[in-house]
This record gives sequence, structure tokens and C-alpha cells, in this order.
Amino acid sequence: MAVLAFESSAHTLGVGIVSDGKVLANVRSMYPITDKGIVPTKVADFHSSHIASSIRRAFRDSGLSIEEIDAIGYTKGPGIGPCLSVGNIAARALALKYGKPVIPVNHSVAHIEITKHIYGFSDPLAVYVSGGNSQILGMEEKPRHYRIYGETLDIGIGNMLDGFARLAGLSPAWGSTVARAAEGGRYISMPYTTKGMDFAFTGLLTYAEKMLSGHSISDVAFSLQETAFSMVCEAAERALLLTGRDSIVLSGGVAQSSRLKEMLSSTCEDHGISFGVAPNEYNADNGAMIALVTEKMLRSGSRFDVASCGVDQKYRIDRVKITW
Ligand code: FE2
Repeated sequence: MAVLAFESSAHTLGVGIVSDGKVLANVRSMYPITDKGIVPTKVADFHSSHIASSIRRAFRDSGLSIEEIDAIGYTKGPGIGPCLSVGNIAARALALKYGKPVIPVNHSVAHIEITKHIYGFSDPLAVYVSGGNSQILGMEEKPRHYRIYGETLDIGIGNMLDGFARLAGLSPAWGSTVARAAEGGRYISMPYTTKGMDFAFTGLLTYAEKMLSGHSISDVAFSLQETAFSMVCEAAERALLLTGRDSIVLSGGVAQSSRLKEMLSSTCEDHGISFGVAPNEYNADNGAMIALVTEKMLRSGSRFDVASCGVDQKYRIDRVKITW
């Protein structure tokens, strides 16, 4: 079995081809982000102008042809409407032209599933951290779905780090730039907001902005990271004790942070459980993870009417029925 899938929920356009759980192609093109953030329609234009060449490259990399593809998947949501539509239209157009089934995939499920797949974990606690999302989850039955045990009460941790980068004049305004700025920083006490297994980041961001006058960027960046990551690790530890799971996966764009990997891995070590985090190319947005879930859905009998396959900007993970 082989499937083709599109990821276009935000600034990255991804085209993936997976066959029997093996990634054969994972082509990614990223819209160049300026310090002003992103204009959705411009990103959608970027995706539209890169999609044909990305599809051709994915087929070249995989050595397959469209005739050998059994289904076409795309990211249904969550994400930015105009960007999501590009992958949706490409998937439906190819499905209709070549008579293939089309499969709508939840972006958050895909981030978690690819990490589970790489490590072979069957029922881990999932720490999913990205620009717009920050959640602690686990699979629950009847119906089988990802339950959110805890999540951010305001903004996603990635957007908080990007926001800080902009306020501090760091360029490009990404979490990885904050991580570089944090090197050699010293700790300043900052507001720490966890409520049970939930957490919040806007108060921390406002405080960090204030601290920029009077402290070095390095000290503020370091303290911001340490505080935010500790909040996530504490919430995860609480969920771990509540659910008694034997492993944790760390997934999503912010899972590329070396410091967060180190902290959560040490939490797992303290509890004698396994820890999994995918290589960065699978934590950044990518088409391979969407293709992997497309294949799981196809194998487990999911079928959709092409005409009813749309996008949903607020497609929450706990609304997805897991069929595999
Ligand atoms: Fe993502």
C-alpha cells in the first residue's frame, strides 16, 4: 500500500509519500517568515506556486507513480484557512482525476502518531507543543480518541516564544533564535502558572517583556525558556502520575528545542519510563506525518465522500475518532 499526502496548515508546504509505514518522500518548502509574522493569503499563494514542483519531487524521490498510490490525504485542520485550502484542493483534484479515495487528517494526531510510529510505543502520554497548540494527551477508549488531560489556557508555547523574539528584536523571530540567545544566560525568577494539568503563557510573556529593560536579552531568554518548559514538564509529570503510562512522546514544532528534550527526558528518567522524540524533520510540519496517518486511516476502513471533504481551522484533536 502507498499513499500521497499534503500538509499546508501554516507556513510550511509538505508533500509526503508513505508505503507500508515507510517514508519514501518528505518534501518541504517553507514560506520565508518576516519579523511582521505571516499574511495568510501570501502564504497560501506561496503554497500554490510550490505545490506542483513539490509533487513532482516527491514522486521522483519515492520512485513511485500516481498509479501506484492507493489514497490521497491532506491536513483538514487545525490551521490557517487559506493555507489549509491549498492542500485540500490539491488532494481533491488529484483524487477526482485519478479516481483515488481522499482522506482528511487531523494535524495534531499526525504529529503524535509519527513519533509513536518511530519509537514503536503503543500507548504513551503525548506532550504536543507547537506554535498554536500546547497539550498533554493520551489515548482513551469508547470511543477511541485522544483525550486532552491538560493544555494552555491562552496561547501556544511556540507563539509565546516567537512573540518574545519579536519583542526582543531577535531575527528571525523564532523559538530557535530565543534558544541561541538563551545560551550563557542566568536565571531571573519569573511568574510560573500551572493549574492542575493546564498552564498559561501570556503573563510570562508580559513579564519577560518588562524584564528586557534592566536585564540582558540572554538572561531574559534563558529564564523565559526555563520557566515555560518547567511548566510543561510539571503538567506532564502530573498527567503521568494520574494515568500511569510507561512512556512519553514529545511532538510538534517546539519539540525541536534541545532544552525541552533534555528536561522532559530527565523527567522520564526520574520515573523510569521511556522517552521518544522524533528527528526534527518530523517535528517541524511535514507531509510524511500526514501520509502516515492517511495510510492508517485507509487500512482501518475510513472512507470519505470527496465532495464533503473540506477544511476546519479549529479541528480539535479530541473530536477525532481514532479508527486504528
Ligand atoms: Fe504542526
